[in-house]
Amino acid sequence: MRLLVWGTGSRAKELVPTLRTGATEIVAFIDSFDSGGSFSGKPVLAPGQAAALKVGSDYDKIVVASCFEKEILDSAESLGFPLSAFLPEWFFHFLRYAGRLNEEQLVRLLAVPWWYHAFEILPGIMTPGICSYKPYLLDHPLTREVSGKKVLDIGAWDGPYTLEMARRGARVTAFDIQPPDHSGFDAMRDLNGIDAAHFCESVYNLDPQRHGRFDVVLFFGVYYHLRSPLLAITNINAVLEDGGLVFVEGAVLEGASTVDAFCADNADRIANVAAMPMAYYVKDIFQDHWSNWWVPNMACLRHWFTSSGFAVEHEALFENDSRGYLIARKVGPVPPEHAVLEGARS
Ligand SMILES: C[S@@+](CC[C@H](N)C(=O)[O-])C[C@H]1O[C@@H](n2cnc3c(N)ncnc32)[C@H](O)[C@@H]1O
Repeated sequence: MRLLVWGTGSRAKELVPTLRTGATEIVAFIDSFDSGGSFSGKPVLAPGQAAALKVGSDYDKIVVASCFEKEILDSAESLGFPLSAFLPEWFFHFLRYAGRLNEEQLVRLLAVPWWYHAFEILPGIMTPGICSYKPYLLDHPLTREVSGKKVLDIGAWDGPYTLEMARRGARVTAFDIQPPDHSGFDAMRDLNGIDAAHFCESVYNLDPQRHGRFDVVLFFGVYYHLRSPLLAITNINAVLEDGGLVFVEGAVLEGASTVDAFCADNADRIANVAAMPMAYYVKDIFQDHWSNWWVPNMACLRHWFTSSGFAVEHEALFENDSRGYLIARKVGPVPPEHAVLEGARS
C-alpha cells in the first residue's frame, strides 16, 4: 500500500518507523509550512501539489501523522482530496500486526468503517472494537456440541460468535439490523473463508419460511435493546427445531447497581424483590443510553422463556451479576396468548 503521510512534525517522526513495513511504502510527505525539501528520505509536497496526485495511480492511501487531524481533513476537503483515501484511526492499531498480515488482509481490515467488537479475527490479530468478545459465553458443554449443527447468531454485529461457532464446525447464519459491510462482519467472513449467510433484518421479522430452522440460537446482548423482547423470543421459538437450544445473555437487574446510577440508588429495593419476576423499563435511562429498553431480573428472564415454550437448563450471572446468562431448550410452541371464549353471550 503506497502512502502519502500528512505531517512532518514530532508525531510524524514518532510514527514513520512504524509506517515502513512489508505491506506499506511511503511515497511522499505533505506539509503546509515546510514543503519543497525532503523528510525521512522522501519529498515533502505542499497540500496543493499533493492534491494533484491521483489516488490509485500515484498513491493508495493518506495517513495523518499530526495532532491537527481535524484541520487537516478540513483543508483536504477544500482542496478536493478524496476523503475516502484517508485511513481510519485504527490504521495504527492494525499496523502493529503488519508483519503478520499480508497487504490484502491489511487493506480488508482497514476498509471496515466501524469496529464494535474486540476479538481475534485471525490467529494473533485483535480487532480494535469497544466491546470484548466474551469466551465464557461459549464455555458450557452444551455450546461445544455444535459440529454439523445449524446455528443462528442473532445480533451478530462484527461476528465474533459466528466465527467461533464456525470454528467449532457449525453451519452458521447471522442476523442483525447492521449491514454486514458497515460492520466488520464481511471482513471477518472473507478473511476466514467461512460460509455464513447474513440476513440484515430485525429479529421481529425472523421467520422459519424465509430464514430456515435451527438447532441452536445465540441471543447475546440483544433482548434489552428491544422494545418487544417477548416478540423476539416468540420468533426464536418458531425457528428452533423441537429440542433446540437458545443461549441468552444480557443486562439483568441483580448487579445493575454496579453499572447504573439509578439502580445503585435503589440497590436494596431491587435485592428485596429479586425472587419476583420483574423488568425495569429503562428507555433512555439505563446507563444513560437510548439503546436500552427493558432490564429484567433473572426470575423475569427465566419466566420470559418458560412462558414461551422453553425449559431452562442452565443459569449464571457474570460481570458482578450485571449480566445474566441462560440456556433454554424448546419443549413446545409458544402457547396462545389469550383463549377465545366459546359460546355466544345471550
Ligand atoms: C450489544 S450488541 C451485541 C452484539 C453481540 N451479540 C455481543 O453479545 O457482543 C447488540 C446487537 O443487537 C443488534 N440488534 C439490535 N436490535 C436488533 C433487532 N431488532 N434485530 C436484530 N438485531 C438487533 C445490534 O445491531 C447489535 O449488533
